[in-house]
Parts: sequence; structure tokens; C-alpha cells
Amino acid sequence: MPMLEVQDLTVRYGPLQAVRKIGFSVQQGQIVALIGANGAGKSSTLKALIGLTPAAGGTLRFMDEDITALPAAARVTRGLALSPEGRRLFGRMTVLDNLLAGGHGVRDRARLRRTLQEVYALFPRVHERRGQLAGSLSGGEQQMVAIGRALMAQPRLLMLDEPSLGIAPKVVAEIALAIERLNRDSGLSIILVEQNARLALRLAHQAYALEHGEVVRTGRGEELLADPFVQKAYLGV
Ligand SMILES: Nc1ncnc2c1ncn2[C@@H]1O[C@H](COP(=O)(O)OP(=O)(O)O)[C@@H](O)[C@H]1O
Ligand SMILES: [Mg+2]
Repeated sequence: MPMLEVQDLTVRYGPLQAVRKIGFSVQQGQIVALIGANGAGKSSTLKALIGLTPAAGGTLRFMDEDITALPAAARVTRGLALSPEGRRLFGRMTVLDNLLAGGHGVRDRARLRRTLQEVYALFPRVHERRGQLAGSLSGGEQQMVAIGRALMAQPRLLMLDEPSLGIAPKVVAEIALAIERLNRDSGLSIILVEQNARLALRLAHQAYALEHGEVVRTGRGEELLADPFVQKAYLGV
């Protein structure tokens, strides 16, 4: 049984249907990629999953529970966490306070301290910069903090919205390695949303391509990398 099952999810903004009855699932331990052009509905899907945008239709099941009507905070408690597009850090707070903000709902202080050390081990640069204002960091460093902040909530399923967007290639490679490590070493399940389809498909066990709010292709990451339709539409081959 999948840990997350999305059925017929629809998201509307007034008359606009940003997501149209999409379905996908995430198995425990998988990296699942959602790829697609700007405006395809990727962020809307993640926002509906975490509860920041209401689902206009469909069902979300997580860990064998219907979470469709739960508020965002309750979904975080159950193990969903989102690192949002554009990072959305508190720029005038320190890196450490940003990280702690991600763990504010966690009661077990000892566990929180351990997770903080794990975040620092994953991103040594975040440790170096822990006392600095988040707004003073480079884009790549901020992205690491945003991922760390989501990890502080102790997720079972981590959702990353465009972690490579606007970041220097060398740092993108570091972040990709961190995503791989989180999955392989900690067994964390991950939904990876990316316009950088090549990066996402390399990392993903399973992938879904979205166009105009609909799933137009699905398969294993390596299958989609070899798929002529995907190559033409998303990989510039
Ligand atoms: N808050 C919003 N209000 C109105 N329209 C929105 C809003 N957010 C996104 N949209 C529209 O919904 C569609 C899907 O957007 P989005 O989910 O952000 O796509 P993606 O993340 O794949 O780029 C786009 O047409 C976008 O303009
Ligand atoms: Mg987006």
C-alpha cells in the first residue's frame, strides 16, 4: 500500500483549473518527481497536499488516513513537510531561528536537537552560517536552510518545490547529493518538483509529467529519461 495516494485532485483559482483530476502515489522510501513547464500545476499540487490551498475535488490519503479535510498544521503533525518554491525564509531571523521555526510543533526536544545536528551534518555550510541572518545568505545556502527547516518538522514525506531554481550549478549538485542521501541513508520518502527535468528524473524512482494540470506521462525516472516525448518536451534533446 502506498504511503500517499492522490486521487482525482483538482485545484481551482476562481475560474482557472490549475490541477485537473490528477492521480499519483508515493511508496514508502521512494523519490517521486513531478516535472513540467512553468504553470503546469506542480506548486498547486504541493500546496493542496500540505493544505495551503484547498482541494476543489478529489481525495488525499496519507499513511492510511483520509487527510483531504485536515488543516495544514495537522498534516505536518502526521508527517508531511514542504520546502516551498522561492524558499520563503524569514530573512531577518538567523539561520538557526529559521531552522527552529520548522520544528516548533515537535514536542520531543532531544529529538529536535538530534535532527538539528543531522541537518548540520547534511549541510556543513548551514552550520557555518547558523548565526547569520538568513537574508544575507546566497540563494543556494538559503535553499539548504529551507530544506533543513522542513526536515526539522520530522517528516515521513518531504516535499521539495523547485530546490534548484535560480541556484548556481555547483550548488545544485550539492543539493542533489543531499536529496539522494536523505533518501538512501535515512529512507526518507520525497516528492521532488522540478522544472529541471533532467535532474529530477535522474534522482526519481517514479516520475509524473504534468501539462496544464494533467498527468501526461508516468514511469520510472530512467524510463522517462529515455522517452522521446519527454526528451523533446522537457530535456531539449
Ligand atoms: N494564487 C493563485 N491565484 C491564481 N492563479 C494561480 C495562483 N497560483 C497559481 N496560479 C495559476 O495556476 C496555474 C498553475 O500554477 P502553479 O501550480 O504555480 O504551476 P507550476 O508550479 O507548475 O509552475 C498557473 O496558470 C498559475 O498562473
Ligand atoms: Mg511552481
